[in-house]
Amino acid sequence: MHAKRVKHDDLKPDLERLGHDLEAISAFTEPGHDGWTRRVLSDPYLASRAFVRQTMVEAGLEVHTDAAGNTIGILEGRTHGSAIASGSHTDTVASGGRYDGVVGVMGAIETARRFQETGTRLDHDFYVIDFLGEEPNDYGVSCVGSRVITGAVTPEFFDKSSAEGVSLGQEFERLGFSPAAMLDAAWPTGRLAGFVELHIEQGPVLERSGTQLGVVTTIAGIERVLATFLGRPDHAGTAAMADRKDALVAAAEAILMVEQIGCSGEHSVATVGSIDVEPGALNVVPSLSRLWTELRSPSAEWLGTARRRLLSEFTDLADRRGIQVDLEWLNDQDPVHTAQTVQDLIAGTSDSLGYSWRAMPSGAGHDAAHIATVTPTGMIFVPSRGGRSHCPEEFTELADIGIGVHALAATLLELDAR
Ligand code: GLV
Ligand code: MN
Ligand code: MN
Repeated sequence: MHAKRVKHDDLKPDLERLGHDLEAISAFTEPGHDGWTRRVLSDPYLASRAFVRQTMVEAGLEVHTDAAGNTIGILEGRTHGSAIASGSHTDTVASGGRYDGVVGVMGAIETARRFQETGTRLDHDFYVIDFLGEEPNDYGVSCVGSRVITGAVTPEFFDKSSAEGVSLGQEFERLGFSPAAMLDAAWPTGRLAGFVELHIEQGPVLERSGTQLGVVTTIAGIERVLATFLGRPDHAGTAAMADRKDALVAAAEAILMVEQIGCSGEHSVATVGSIDVEPGALNVVPSLSRLWTELRSPSAEWLGTARRRLLSEFTDLADRRGIQVDLEWLNDQDPVHTAQTVQDLIAGTSDSLGYSWRAMPSGAGHDAAHIATVTPTGMIFVPSRGGRSHCPEEFTELADIGIGVHALAATLLELDAR
């Protein structure tokens, strides 16, 4: 026990080096935006991935890109059987923060360095993974790389079209990825023996409770729907109020309905995150509105009920206003429970290192939710200042990230030994 404790203590990250890496990757961002913008497949995103690859090489990892577009740095283990893995993503939402995703990638690279520097040879290979495109892209699809390697994608996945009529598959091809290869890029069963993702909490629970680490129990399920209301364009000066078929007023009502739905369950939320209006002129009654809407909950039952409620309320509202509504369900992700065995390892190593922790659900989506369908998976959260995320104010103290990386390294060591 004493030897193990010493071993765990030794794995503490080099904070200066980790801070330097986080600083360096933050240089990659779309100019002219607040905060950090590395949308998937954009130039800053591709540049940040090249930086990650180089950092992996310098950390002594053998690096390759799989057919799914994930960058994987491998530290060879003793037995060349299955691998244990850690990682996250480096893409961001538009005008997002510096820590979402990046902490898990850089933290896993730092862990690989500490394994080598402390002469810690794992039995399993250790994979550090920078997953392709975790945030929703222009097609409403998220977690591309992690979905693909679990075999969860079908040809229809690449047929989704953007507002400009370009398909996701065409866009991938333009950038040198092969949708055909991606359909065949599922990793063989048993290649992974376990996965642990380190991430910022992106919410207020850890900070408010003064807790150093979160042990994630469930990752919320997500239902995304594009609701299109079709009314009628009319002269905004001459069309009487009673005669109008205003698609934007319908949207206004619909948005309040979504808010009500979101208020109806514990840990459950609902959001209209974006809206388009046509024709979008000051003096024309809006004829079309599109609402990009999300429902999230750790409860599958709540999600099912919320989905039915949204469908029925939007349909009634459209009927009442004499307009049309179309619902396109874009992407659904069931709630995922992390593996109890991995939760126990994280909790146990946190105790042995003297870090406080609490079990908690994640309202944010993560690559881990997909990887959990093929291997025992866990997640470690570190606090987010003010609970802020997906905004430029997103911030986590380097020392707090260091605690997360330390717990990650110790957990992986325990996972390796199982
Ligand atoms: C990813 O950050 C998500 O939860 O949407
Ligand atoms: Mn995010
Ligand atoms: Mn993330």
